[in-house]
Amino acid sequence: MGLRILSTGISLPKTAVSNDRLATMMNTSDQWISSRTGIKYRHIASGDENLTSLSIAAAGTAIERAAIRVSDIDMIICSTMCGDYVFPSLACCVAEALGVTCPAFDLNAACSGFIYALDIADKFISTGRSKHILIVCAEMMSRLCDWTDRSTCVLFGDGAAACVVGEGNAIKYINLTSDGHTHLLYQQVGSGNSPFRPQKEPGFLVMAGQDVFKFAVSKVGQQTELALQALNLTPDDIDLYILHQANKRIIDSARARLEQPEEKFPTNIDRYGNTSSVTIPLLLDELLEAGSIKKGTKLLLSAFGAGMTTGTCVMIWE
Ligand code: ACO
Repeated sequence: MGLRILSTGISLPKTAVSNDRLATMMNTSDQWISSRTGIKYRHIASGDENLTSLSIAAAGTAIERAAIRVSDIDMIICSTMCGDYVFPSLACCVAEALGVTCPAFDLNAACSGFIYALDIADKFISTGRSKHILIVCAEMMSRLCDWTDRSTCVLFGDGAAACVVGEGNAIKYINLTSDGHTHLLYQQVGSGNSPFRPQKEPGFLVMAGQDVFKFAVSKVGQQTELALQALNLTPDDIDLYILHQANKRIIDSARARLEQPEEKFPTNIDRYGNTSSVTIPLLLDELLEAGSIKKGTKLLLSAFGAGMTTGTCVMIWE
């Protein structure tokens, strides 16, 4: 016995920013951004919106839809690259706001975080240690970006997506990797207040875009093929490929390699940009709400991110 996803919920900052609006702030254009990435809009936090508030809203919807009591949750895992505090963890802030006392911790596998969280949750549920785990992916990429660097800031968005998992047997395959190349995508912290070393300000997100692109195209393809081989499946056997929404061109190249029709590779990057570990549960939520995922639907989830990490999962919806 492992897990199944009982429910999902999402929460996005209220402000949606179009490419045209960005073009009034920096030297860019809707034509450049949408043709290179597929992105049209992204949601950016403003006012008092923070990761804890977005996470609680997404979690509240997921808990309500799972029809469980808050007290039924016996673990909270948050995937984030940067919570509201260095410590305590975002997961502890969510636990406090929900009023539950259970193990709660953050994990950082960058954009692969949702699949990492699923694998950990699967292990806790399959050993009987947990019955209901709340997974929240929440990212505020707008805090990490250098808003004077047009080559990165236009790509990302903010948001949160949650799911409640419980006992089931949905996961048929899951594989996590990290294989170096840390210099391709990173953000350095500052040196802090030590009197014994020179002060250094925290940096912003740095990305070698073309190398990340090449990594993603080759690794996503390779990991997908490994998953299919392990289960003795062909690409045609998968109903929906839920890929990390980093760039529409990366998704299109994975689809071409597998020779699959466009409708099997749903996207929402046009409306949200790259929200890191949030992209896959955000897309899952939309597909569930639209009725596109039903009992028996065969899904392949695939993510890549800083590290460089990957996560690949095949599940049959229960
Ligand atoms: N608007 C207009 N022009 C721009 C912009 C912009 N926003 N950004 C860059 N340019 C210019 C560059 O200055 C360059 O100009 P030049 O030719 O005069 O020097 C030109 O556009 C081409 O720049 P490239 O970097 O070569 O553009 P490329 O076609 O490689 O596209 C992109 C860049 C979209 C970043 C692409 O490399 C990419 O998508 N990489 C993968 C990114 C990714 O997946 N990131 C997520 C990783 S994991 C995670 O999710 C955290």
